[in-house]
Amino acid sequence: MKIAQKVVKLKDGRSATLKSASPDEADLVLQHLKISHKESYRNLNQGSAHWDNVSVEDESKFLADLESGKNKFMIMAWVDGKIVGGLGLFSQTAEFVRHNASLGMSIQNAYCNTGLGTHLMNTALETAKQIGLRRIDLTVRTYNTAGIALYEKVGFQRIGLLKEIALIDGQYVDEYSYQLLLKD
Ligand SMILES: CC(C)(COP(=O)(O)OP(=O)(O)OC[C@H]1O[C@@H](n2cnc3c(N)ncnc32)[C@H](O)[C@@H]1OP(=O)(O)O)[C@@H](O)C(=O)NCCC(=O)NCCS
Repeated sequence: MKIAQKVVKLKDGRSATLKSASPDEADLVLQHLKISHKESYRNLNQGSAHWDNVSVEDESKFLADLESGKNKFMIMAWVDGKIVGGLGLFSQTAEFVRHNASLGMSIQNAYCNTGLGTHLMNTALETAKQIGLRRIDLTVRTYNTAGIALYEKVGFQRIGLLKEIALIDGQYVDEYSYQLLLKD
């Protein structure tokens, strides 16, 4: 589904526009993913090299599929025509569990700790409620203090520890598992 445009003010006075990317903006999405995965691969599931191997055409198809889907979306944060952050929410499709969704997000370093994470998250949670989702889950590396601060601030509850779930720079690292039940 497509998220309508909204302008938000950041803590440092800058503004950002939040909206979905259309299929013809696939190159800009890939550019963001390459930058954020290069900067923050320790917090994410792959490095930027992965995104070097995704073609603009394939990303465009992915965005078109997202746009036509009912219970999944990505919200990108735009500044001066470039994407500086993004959040994806993907619901499950099987009959008994389709009220559940998983969430992931990444913001480029220059825009971290400006309130952008909170704006993206609040927009995602509002949208999730509107489309009838009930439960959202995510995982976060145990050392990702910024992520943990954001998720706990908006009400996610820690439900477990996933030991040695990722192999980063030759070392196994742990993640916390979080869930949020959306109230009516
Ligand atoms: C995790 C991430 C999305 C958080 O976004 P953000 O832009 O820092 O979020 P905000 O600026 O809205 O900050 C949210 C809260 O966390 C706090 N915070 C920010 N950075 C922090 C840090 N390093 N340590 C502790 N708290 C921090 C802020 O003060 C704010 O609290 P407040 O509103 O009470 O002041 C962002 O840091 C990011 O994308 N990092 C790289 C990729 C990544 O880690 N993705 C998540 C993988 S699970």
